[in-house]
Amino acid sequence: MTQHVRGVIAPGKDQPVRTETIVVPDPGPGEAVVEVRACGVCHTDLHYREGGINDDFPFLLGHEAAGVVESVGEGVSEVAPGDFVVLNWRAVCGQCRACARGRPWYCFDTHNAEQPMTLTDGTPLSPALGIGAFAEKTLVAAGQCTKVPETAPEVAGLLGCGVMAGIGAAINTGQVSRGDSVAVIGCGGVGDAAIAGSRLAGAARVIAVDIDDRKLATARELGATHTVNSRQTDPITAVRELTGGFGADVVIEAVGRPETYEQAFYARDLAGTVVLVGVPTPDMKLELPLLDVFGRGGSLKSSWYGDCLPSRDFPMLIDLHRQGRLDLAPFVTEKINLDQVEEAFAKMHTGEVLRSVVMF
Ligand code: APR
Ligand code: ZN
Ligand code: ZN
Repeated sequence: MTQHVRGVIAPGKDQPVRTETIVVPDPGPGEAVVEVRACGVCHTDLHYREGGINDDFPFLLGHEAAGVVESVGEGVSEVAPGDFVVLNWRAVCGQCRACARGRPWYCFDTHNAEQPMTLTDGTPLSPALGIGAFAEKTLVAAGQCTKVPETAPEVAGLLGCGVMAGIGAAINTGQVSRGDSVAVIGCGGVGDAAIAGSRLAGAARVIAVDIDDRKLATARELGATHTVNSRQTDPITAVRELTGGFGADVVIEAVGRPETYEQAFYARDLAGTVVLVGVPTPDMKLELPLLDVFGRGGSLKSSWYGDCLPSRDFPMLIDLHRQGRLDLAPFVTEKINLDQVEEAFAKMHTGEVLRSVVMF
């Protein structure tokens, strides 16, 4: 028995998205159908729509979601109907070399649901990041569902992508510790989450760097102790001045450009850590004097999905939120409905919205 629900699809390269009727099959072995409660609009959804990720149109967009498990297929033990869950990009195998070494975010054998969701004429849909949650219901691999304490779905869903990437960059990849000084370059949703994560980890100084004063104002609300507008002030000099001449213990790059990678490299203290979260494009290159790479020591680490363990990190962050120790509400700028996704994409360019979240 299949179900018909409403969902937002990207029909072709650079074409506006539209709401269509989607056919969701019953869950097969190892799969689950989730009733979506909230799904944030992320840049990656726009990249799919622009054809910047691959050409497997039509896409069923949406991947930053929380919902309630409706039904599960054969052999599913991770979750049960009625569980409140946050969705993640890919179920991991639990057995490969990466999983065995406790780094499942590099799993060699990840998977999504095997059965396709389709349009009513049978055209298969490619779910964004294997999720496709701009839909009333979606089919995923059960391992993509993490049970979490019941909380506002618009907040829980944030953990499925950008906010987890930012918080995880600080606490998992950067290992920010009590008393550290941290600089965050680029204060969009991901950078702001890195700021919140740094505060959570007890950083003494959190220096926010951006080219837009409005972003710096929000960064301050989320816990930045100092702000630097890098259009007006050289950020390397500014970060050094704010850290007694040394540079930050941890610098988190959340833009994804050569000039900001370079700033991150030089804004850290000798032997400090640079965490790279911003995703560059294939043509970008970084040139650094090898003597600086050698002589400055420390480490350059990229952060993949905040190097998170969903089963450890999602419930933990929701607990902290429920206790009032991690304020995630400011990340939700507006709540919208399914038919407003295209408008939300347009708003991304104005820089006024951290997250538009589709509510069901
Ligand atoms: N220097 C400093 N800040 C910059 C610069 C620059 N040269 N260029 C842009 N910014 C700022 C923007 O003003 C904005 O506040 O970087 C921020 C980027 O934010 P968003 O566009 O909202 O992007 P976000 O969703 O936070 O993602 C940032 O992380 O996961 C990756 O793919 C993602 O590469 C992207 C990055
Ligand atoms: Zn995303
Ligand atoms: Zn694995």
